Amino acid sequence: MLQTRPAFHVGTHPTYSRIRHIDADPNALRVFFADAATIDVQELEYVPFMRFIIGKRLDDALGGDFGETIRAIIADRDTGGFTIGVAGTTQNDADYVRFGTAVAHLVGPSNFDAMSKTFYARFTVEHTDASDSYLRQAYRDMTLHTDGTFVDDATDWLLMMKFAERNAKGGESRLLHLDDWAERDRFAHHPLATVPLTYKSPPSKNVTQIVKRPTFFQSNGKTCLSFIDQFVYPDSQAQATYLHELSQSLERAAVATPLPTGDLVMLNNAFWAHGRAAFATHPELYRELMRQRGVFAK
Ligand SMILES: [Fe+2]
Repeated sequence: MLQTRPAFHVGTHPTYSRIRHIDADPNALRVFFADAATIDVQELEYVPFMRFIIGKRLDDALGGDFGETIRAIIADRDTGGFTIGVAGTTQNDADYVRFGTAVAHLVGPSNFDAMSKTFYARFTVEHTDASDSYLRQAYRDMTLHTDGTFVDDATDWLLMMKFAERNAKGGESRLLHLDDWAERDRFAHHPLATVPLTYKSPPSKNVTQIVKRPTFFQSNGKTCLSFIDQFVYPDSQAQATYLHELSQSLERAAVATPLPTGDLVMLNNAFWAHGRAAFATHPELYRELMRQRGVFAK
């Protein structure tokens, strides 16, 4: 049902002022969750158009211009990111998937996630880890990167939503808007900046293709980045040195940004880099996130 007035408010994120923080009216969220309860998670997985249908229901519950508002934020070079949460109205995993999917699909369709074999992935960070990338390793910083470097699909945006957190100290999102990176142009104007480099991913990603990508590119006349340290294969000492220095520079500039349980962050992947801070050691550490990545709706 369409609410007659906007049931959300756009403010500034308390930690990283580049990011917008959206407060949704809890009563409107309750209306959405009651309405969306008839769409189960399996239906969202199996029937792609239902992901857009649930997005429309969230837009209606929040007053009808929520989708337009978040599309404008994600496209706006001056921000390109926002956070929003369920405001304590639910702690149910299925509701979290519904909410994250609705928000995502008001911006555009999610890409297939080869790791999970559907349009979203849920992954945990715990005390021990036997994986082949930094994604689930708790006790080291996950270095700043952009997503989608090793796939052919475009990756215009990414969304991360926190489902659960126990015994978790540290582990903040580490974020950086490219216009806040003081040393950016030293790397963006370097002779290697636009040379296509080779990207390959480890077995857990279930992606066998090899992709060539330049580190920097232009979109709407603005500098954009495509980079991840773990999956780029330099051809020379000079390329390796360039990438190493670029990565260290990103690390120095990262802004630790907390994300409460039940909240999500959505970012423009062309001009935001993201990572995660290390957690403090705890034998019963548990944190679960959902991610979705996708393109802008046509
Ligand atoms: Fe990522």
